Amino acid sequence: MSFTRRQILAGLAGLGIAGLGASGVRYWLGRPNEATSHDYELIAAPLDVELVAGHQTPAWAYGGQVPGVELRCRQGERLRVRFINQLEVDTTIHWHGIRLPLEMDGVPYVSQLPVKPGEYFDYDFICPDAGSFWYHPHTASAEQLGRGLVGPLIVEEREPTGFVHERTLSLKSWHVDKQGAFTEFSVPREAARGGTPGVLSTVNGTHAPTLELPAGQIVRLRILNLDNTLTYRLNLSAGEARIYALDGNPVEPRALGKEYWLGPGMRIELALKVPAAGEEISLRNGPLRLATLLSVDSGESEADWPSKLPANPVAEPDLQRAEVLRFNFEWAGMVSANVEQTGTHTFWQINGQAWDINDKTCADRPIATLKKDGHYILELRNLSQYQHPIHLHGMTFKVISSNRRKIEPWFTDTYLLGKNETARIALVADNPGVWMFHCHVIDHMETGLMAAIEVV
Ligand code: C2O
Ligand code: CU
Ligand code: CU
Repeated sequence: MSFTRRQILAGLAGLGIAGLGASGVRYWLGRPNEATSHDYELIAAPLDVELVAGHQTPAWAYGGQVPGVELRCRQGERLRVRFINQLEVDTTIHWHGIRLPLEMDGVPYVSQLPVKPGEYFDYDFICPDAGSFWYHPHTASAEQLGRGLVGPLIVEEREPTGFVHERTLSLKSWHVDKQGAFTEFSVPREAARGGTPGVLSTVNGTHAPTLELPAGQIVRLRILNLDNTLTYRLNLSAGEARIYALDGNPVEPRALGKEYWLGPGMRIELALKVPAAGEEISLRNGPLRLATLLSVDSGESEADWPSKLPANPVAEPDLQRAEVLRFNFEWAGMVSANVEQTGTHTFWQINGQAWDINDKTCADRPIATLKKDGHYILELRNLSQYQHPIHLHGMTFKVISSNRRKIEPWFTDTYLLGKNETARIALVADNPGVWMFHCHVIDHMETGLMAAIEVV
């Protein structure tokens, strides 16, 4: 495979950012004012943050904040990001959920070479779908995402929707101790089970914040699970909320209900009817409070529920002529076959094959080859006691059935496959390339639960 777009810099002078580093790292986010173009310069660099009061945590940040700065563009427009690596390690950016050309997908040795310290890489692609997406590295993911390299990417609808107010809530639980020092991002005995959880929950980088919302208004809450491990059992202590979109694709609006299980990498968009001024609602993970939503006087008159969001231009799979492919997600058995040579563990596999995170050639052996524009049903079978949020790069799929619950079909890029569940998803293989297909519990992915699906 040859890679063409990587930019190697002898120094940073050519970038016009000389002086970076010498006096400590500076950050900025550039964006020109023309309404039709969206250009960003995005820097990844170390940043000390105060997650635990009175203590510093040596995080890694995009655009000088954790989670990373929110990138926005409009549906159908190009997003152009000059990504500058000011870390001391190789990295990449993957644009989770965006249907883009392979060269922009951010997977090292599959779509590009790693961006080395001091290098930059120009990402440039069209965002065909409106919705809530996110970005993160695809290198040493447990540590890089764990240290804070995660950020929201919001693609706005072409036309104004009925929503006047919106908030992005990025959820992440940090692997830190009481002094704010990082703890292990991936512990083998946890990776072999549900994944290694962080202990300090945050919303937009703050533990249990209070967020003010305008009284009487309908607010679009874009809730993004940017966590390495946790499935949040999202619920609200009070108030009325309706689901408008899942993982970047609109659904027929329906009540939030008791709770929604939002796996790692997944997003949900709620419309929340904000109660009278002074009232509070807790956003919770099961019984645990993640944030307090406080209603404040807005002086605006009562709003009504917006109509549903416009559908994205995703090809409709024809189930009658679709070919069925089967994927088993299971325990790999030989617990530490690999560990002596490489220092990595293999706990998980797909159809008997474990991805070796240190082997740069794994993607040369795709687990399935799909014909361009062919229609497929993928049957996902979870043979384990742990749930796996199964994610596919490059294409959006439709969830069509499950043996464990009633499915109202919807389009998504990540499906939370429950314990021992078998689910069917369908897609039109309309994007040529080699696409990662993996569990988004990061330490499952790094201990085998990843494969490549090729579309030719
Ligand atoms: Cu968020 Cu390989 O994905
Ligand atoms: Cu992805
Ligand atoms: Cu998993």
